[in-house]
Amino acid sequence: MHSLASKFQALFGVEPEIVASAPGRVNLIGEHVDFLDGFVLPFAISDVTTVAIARNSTGVIRSASLQKEGVINTVDVARLSPKSGEAWTRYPIGVLWSLEINCGLDILIDGQVPLGAGLSSSAALECAMATAINELFDLKLSLSQLARAAQRAENIYVGMPCGIMDQSVSLLATQGNALLLDTRDLSTEQIPFDIAPLGLELLVIDTQVHHALVDGGYAERRASCEKAVADLGIASLRDISVAEFVSRKSELDEKTYIRAFHGVTEMQRVLDAVALLKAGDFVGFGEIVTAAHISLRDNYTVSCPELNLAADTANKFGALGARMIGGGFGGSAIALIKAKDSELIKSEISSAFMASKFKSPRFFSALPSSGASVIN
Ligand code: GLA
Repeated sequence: MHSLASKFQALFGVEPEIVASAPGRVNLIGEHVDFLDGFVLPFAISDVTTVAIARNSTGVIRSASLQKEGVINTVDVARLSPKSGEAWTRYPIGVLWSLEINCGLDILIDGQVPLGAGLSSSAALECAMATAINELFDLKLSLSQLARAAQRAENIYVGMPCGIMDQSVSLLATQGNALLLDTRDLSTEQIPFDIAPLGLELLVIDTQVHHALVDGGYAERRASCEKAVADLGIASLRDISVAEFVSRKSELDEKTYIRAFHGVTEMQRVLDAVALLKAGDFVGFGEIVTAAHISLRDNYTVSCPELNLAADTANKFGALGARMIGGGFGGSAIALIKAKDSELIKSEISSAFMASKFKSPRFFSALPSSGASVIN
């Protein structure tokens, strides 16, 4: 029996009917374009969130988490409404709401994706739930439909206007590959990212600065990009080349222009980066990764001093490229490094953080892992 199943039994007095898990992610390139019909290139990490679930006949959803010992949160299924309930329960319950499940359930969560580290712990939880519910109720939904349902839970039930990247990769990832996702139609291509034999490593630097994306910065920037689309009278920023966008600068106010400029150039960077990866040009790929950081820092303005210091120090000590990932304002940075430089780069980043009186960063090495799965 999965260890979560025995804990479930101890807590709720019955065996779970289903156990499923889903991973967090890092994103190689394509940041803040997954709500603009853009391309993104994330991969799933090996850290997963696992849920164990059984139906009950009480009409009540009872949620518990190994990370919140002693708390069982209850909510009446008849009273599910967006943004109600304890903040941490909105992710799993939002998925039930989104999939229109109207039955009492007992839920136990084990979240091993670090919270607030920009590694998409929320999508991991949503996708573990969606996977479990799809199987338990035999809904026969495709992975893309589950991704949309999980996104709807986060957009409406949680109230965070995220795009579709995190949920898609958590469900669709395959081991050894990054996922090239077209967020316009959810078509995908698996791009091999097997860097260890080349002596390379993808270092993740968790700055330990915790972000709260539900707070306005993310939504406000998304709104600027949508304003650019409206002001330019186009269907999507995907439909305009960088050159044409620049030529129409005078039609946009300054803030709208610079934020949308990030979006338009980032979409092009993803395509360029994929071409370089396919050609095995990791030096060129690393340069694009760093260019994305500069645009997120200076144009889209979602970086922070800790993320900048992590990326700059990695580059200074030999990284091929480095950048912040995810929503920003904290969380993690990635650096593509030579494995032999790993200890040096980690120690230089730690020293630089100490000298700046920042919290000590945490490091780990990320390998492309599999997407969500039913465990039993
Ligand atoms: C968060 C959101 C994603 C995406 C990234 C930025 O992780 O959940 O949808 O927009 O930020 O690329």
